[in-house]
Amino acid sequence: MTTFDPLRITLDRSNALPLYQQIKQGIVAAIERGELPPSTRLPATRVLARQLGVNRVTVVTAYAELAAEGYIDSHVGRGSFVLDRAMGGDEAVNPPSLRRPSDWTAHNFNREMMRLARRPDILSFAPGMPATDLLPDDDYRLALNTVLRRDGPAVLQYGLVEGYPPLHAAIVKELAEFGILAEPEQLLVTSGTEQGLALILRTLLRPGDAILIEQPTYMHVLDLLAGSGIQAYPVACDEQGVRPELLSDLILRHRPKLLYLTPTYQNPTGACMPLTRRRQLLDLTTEHDLLVLEDDVYRHLWLDRPSPPPLRALAPSDNVIYTSGYSKCLLPGARIGYLLPPARLLPVLAASHQTLDITATELHQRALAVILGQERFSAHLVRLREAHRRRRQAMLDALARYMPSETHWTHPRGGLYLWVQLPTTGPSATTLYVHALELGIAFAPGHLFFMPSSGETPVHANHYLRLNFVLHSPRDTADGIRRLARAWERAAGMG
Ligand SMILES: Cc1ncc(COP(=O)(O)O)c(C=O)c1O
Repeated sequence: MTTFDPLRITLDRSNALPLYQQIKQGIVAAIERGELPPSTRLPATRVLARQLGVNRVTVVTAYAELAAEGYIDSHVGRGSFVLDRAMGGDEAVNPPSLRRPSDWTAHNFNREMMRLARRPDILSFAPGMPATDLLPDDDYRLALNTVLRRDGPAVLQYGLVEGYPPLHAAIVKELAEFGILAEPEQLLVTSGTEQGLALILRTLLRPGDAILIEQPTYMHVLDLLAGSGIQAYPVACDEQGVRPELLSDLILRHRPKLLYLTPTYQNPTGACMPLTRRRQLLDLTTEHDLLVLEDDVYRHLWLDRPSPPPLRALAPSDNVIYTSGYSKCLLPGARIGYLLPPARLLPVLAASHQTLDITATELHQRALAVILGQERFSAHLVRLREAHRRRRQAMLDALARYMPSETHWTHPRGGLYLWVQLPTTGPSATTLYVHALELGIAFAPGHLFFMPSSGETPVHANHYLRLNFVLHSPRDTADGIRRLARAWERAAGMG
């Protein structure tokens, strides 16, 4: 087996190039000279740091850059290995973070999606984000200028843990339109909806506690649950969301503390729960005194008609924790979300928020409060829906035109996602993924949204894919689906 000779890396401390760069270059040169063939294990960072006489952080940084550039694969506990860059020739074809089947975890794939979304040569339908070309940068510039001029340096200060009070007032007004009656003091502004979810799991549940989740579900929640010691039990869903007839049995068997769900334009299926089922579900959770965590982050994105009211509007306020935010309709990068918990839980959640990151960004909270109070916000939503409708149609038409028969897909009424089932007799979504990347196309393989080894995973989980239908123009969308279908033919050995 090849061993790594650190003495071949010469460090020049008088050189302006940082030491970590010199280490990285030394390793790249060794890989390119063929001295470190694929699969060679690099020394542990502590060992190499000692051998080279540098701080361990310097080596960690060098390894992180090598991993990001696809030279090595690093895993805590397993070490760092040289990757085969010749395999497939190009990191897009052979994503460095997804070389082995065991690497296809929600965590790795999320990083992969964000990385590919920035590559100009890849048309990606994978990430769960709004389309950049539809984000209202002009409106936001005006809002930022307004608060900077109006409030001066106060916008740069720490804010209150609970959030900026005028933003509370603006959110409460919006909630009333959804049928939720709340007081501004009941809200906790978080750094994105994601943080609200993390706060709930970390604050209200302990290792050993049980939680019910939709199957399939939002992959970040699977990520948050992994390693938390919380026992997650999946509830199967159909095209209307969680199947209520399965709940009583699961509740009695596992005594969960919480049911987490996204009833409106679910991620990944796009399903929207009808009103009758919402009521049915709430009757059951109230009967069993089960707390519901309702994630409503896609509410603004209805397409044909507004969705039914949130569960929180239909239930006693003590039974539902409501969380939502503005990432999918307005400003994902500003990281603003909020929690509306039952009053008894607010103090402990606020304390947890304070421990974790003190407060959400004051500048963005103030700018958002300005935007929400303006006509511009509703005008933006109208424009967004129009564009989303066109893009949805383009994807539906292209799927019908190009995909093989026996492919099934949803007809989303809102949100961002189309959920596709490939012919179960053909290649799996992961096989298709590799071929699609060769043709410059990416998507989210469906199995990532299912709880790993839950025993309840449908046999065909690996034949689903999630496509974000809003990300590209109708023309690019059609072209992307054409190439996806071509990739399927290649994967099936037909092309
Ligand atoms: C169901 C669901 N909840 C929460 C989030 C995270 O939202 P935010 O960007 O506001 O943290 C996402 C993003 O994909 C999501 O799909």
